[in-house]
Amino acid sequence: MNFMHVVGARPNFMKVAAVYRAIQDARHEQSVIHTGQHYDTQMSEVFFRQLEMGPPTRNLEVGSGSHAQQTALIMSRFEPVLLELRPDWVIVYGDVNSTVAAALVCSKLGVRICHVEAGLRSYDRTMPEEVNRVVTDQLADLLFTPSREADENLVREGIPRDKIFFVGNVMIDTLLRALPAADDVYITLSKMLDLSSFGLITLHRPSNVDDESVFLRILDALKALSHSLPLVFPVHPRTRQRWSKELEGIPGLKIIDPLGYLEFIALERNAQVVITDSGGVQEETTALNVPCITIRENTERPITISQGTNVLVGHDTERLKAEFKRVITGKRGAKVIPENWDGSAGRRIASILSMTVGSS
Ligand code: UD1
Ligand code: UDP
Repeated sequence: MNFMHVVGARPNFMKVAAVYRAIQDARHEQSVIHTGQHYDTQMSEVFFRQLEMGPPTRNLEVGSGSHAQQTALIMSRFEPVLLELRPDWVIVYGDVNSTVAAALVCSKLGVRICHVEAGLRSYDRTMPEEVNRVVTDQLADLLFTPSREADENLVREGIPRDKIFFVGNVMIDTLLRALPAADDVYITLSKMLDLSSFGLITLHRPSNVDDESVFLRILDALKALSHSLPLVFPVHPRTRQRWSKELEGIPGLKIIDPLGYLEFIALERNAQVVITDSGGVQEETTALNVPCITIRENTERPITISQGTNVLVGHDTERLKAEFKRVITGKRGAKVIPENWDGSAGRRIASILSMTVGSS
């Protein structure tokens, strides 16, 4: 059997790494198509290197553009590759434009689709990712979910139960595997950045960084918080492009380029608190039992709140400050690690695929 993985943006790379390894162990053929949605070395190549993936089989080099342009370009460049390589199954990840674009092409050509990280819902259609999730899940033939509530979301949308498999969180497979190497990296990184006690920030959601009044209010709050704890802020290119001047010269904020995976999780694991709007970071902090404050009104990953370390503060900067104070002065309570976030989600996927393949 021949599998093709399609990836394109940063959060796809840690997910594919887990499934790729498991499929390799199961001795199936596979290829990796990189759409080129993300292309800076620190947004792409560094992950293939650190996650020991080897270079992708093809890179479609689509680059940036409006949603329509980017999605359309991925589709038109992916279609001939799909026709040429003729995989039995295409595996897509998460909720980025590359995910939905590849799923649309496969569905028109009758190639079977497997969606990893299916069933997440924020129920907020103003998020581009929510549209990508709903469409991809409708098109997928097999849906692998990270939580039981994701299964229920899919069933409510009419997806037959026999297509849905609760396998756990592949991102946590990669995280757990990388922790020893990240601990080594931390020794030099913490010296280089002169860190002992610190907080970590990531911000890239259009709802936080595209609107001037919203972003500047968040930045003001972060400046205030950085008086009590230095904050390290590896800045996503979307954010850097718009706000590089405003981010300069703030004493308590260490503004740096996006970090490689090992460097980032090294900081994440050792931070007093993480302030973020990232989907993956909400999950990793739960797995690491590090307090996480999410600057969003909703989350498609509610399990990180009900069982993990996450709180939502929306755009309410007073709540952000109050939560920050609570977590840096309080004790860390032991939280629950969600079911099947155990490092074996990729293996479960490979074994379900092997069984399905055997019977098809
Ligand atoms: C995308 C995903 C988002 C995901 C995020 C992860 C969609 C709709 N959005 O958002 O779900 O959370 O990736 O990081 O798929 N840029 C660079 N270099 C790069 C990549 C991007 O400079 O390597 C800049 C470009 O100016 C680009 C902007 O960042 O226009 C946004 O990139 P894009 O991929 O469109 O969306 P993200 O905000 O990265
Ligand atoms: N990450 C990273 N370097 C950084 C910031 C994040 O390697 O500077 C990793 C992080 O550990 C997580 C993933 O990127 O595994 C999350 O991706 P991102 O926040 O870009 O996307 P989202 O999860 O919000 O879609």
